[in-house]
Amino acid sequence: MNSNVVELKHPLIQHKISRLRDKNTGTAEFRSLVEEIAMLMGYEALKDLPLEDIEVETPIEKCMTPVIAGKNFAIVPILRAGLGMVSGIQALVPTAKIGHIGLYRDEKTHEPHEYYCKLPSPIEERLIVVTDPMLATGGSAVAAVNFIKQHGGKKIKFMSIIAAPQGIERLMEAHPDIQLYVGHIDRELNENAYICPGLGDAGDRIFGTK
Ligand code: PRP
Ligand code: URA
Repeated sequence: MNSNVVELKHPLIQHKISRLRDKNTGTAEFRSLVEEIAMLMGYEALKDLPLEDIEVETPIEKCMTPVIAGKNFAIVPILRAGLGMVSGIQALVPTAKIGHIGLYRDEKTHEPHEYYCKLPSPIEERLIVVTDPMLATGGSAVAAVNFIKQHGGKKIKFMSIIAAPQGIERLMEAHPDIQLYVGHIDRELNENAYICPGLGDAGDRIFGTK
C-alpha cells in the first residue's frame, strides 16, 4: 500500500468501529464513538506535530521542556459529518483553530457541491487535519483538499474512519503529497456509492436526521 496511507489497526479503534456499524447503535452512542475514534486516530496522526522548548520551573529546578509550537495546527471538518470528529482531536490540542468546508454529495451524480469554506489564517503555516468519517468515491475529499490548497494550505493530513478502496485511490492520485489516516478499509461501494459494509449515512447517524 502507498506509504502515505495509514490504516489504524488498534483493537480499540476496531472495536469502536464495529459498534458504529451496528444499525441498532443510537445517536448518542454513535456520536460518542465518532469522537473517541477521532481522538485515538489523532494520537497517531499528530505524532509529528512540531514542538518548541520552553523554560519551566519544576519543584526541583528550572528546565527546558517541549510544548506544541504556536500557530501551527488547524482542524478542518467537512460539513456535516466531519464535525463529529472535531471534539475528539480538540481534546488532544485544545488550542487548535477550526476551519470549515461545506460540501454535500448530489444524490444522483454523487459529485460534491461546495456551499461554505472558511479557514483560519495563516493557513499556509499550519498542519491541517481534514476530518470526514466517510471516504466513499473520494469526490468530497478531493474537492476539500483542492479548496485548502487554493487557499494556500500546504501540509495536509486527511482523517477518515471508514474508507472504500476507490476513494483512497482517487484521493491519493489527485493529492499524492497528503497523508491519509483511515480506521478501516472496507470492501467496496454499492450502486448508490455507499460504502459496504460501511455504517450507513454518517451525517444522519451523528445528527439523528434520518
Ligand atoms: C458524506 C460524507 C462525506 C461524503 C463521502 O457526506 O460525510 O463527506 O459523503 O462521499 P464521497 O467520498 O463519495 O464524496 P454527505 O454528502 O452525505 O453530506 P452530510 O455530511 O451533510 O450528510
Ligand atoms: N457517505 C456516507 O455517509 N456513507 C457512505 O457510505 C458513503 C457516503
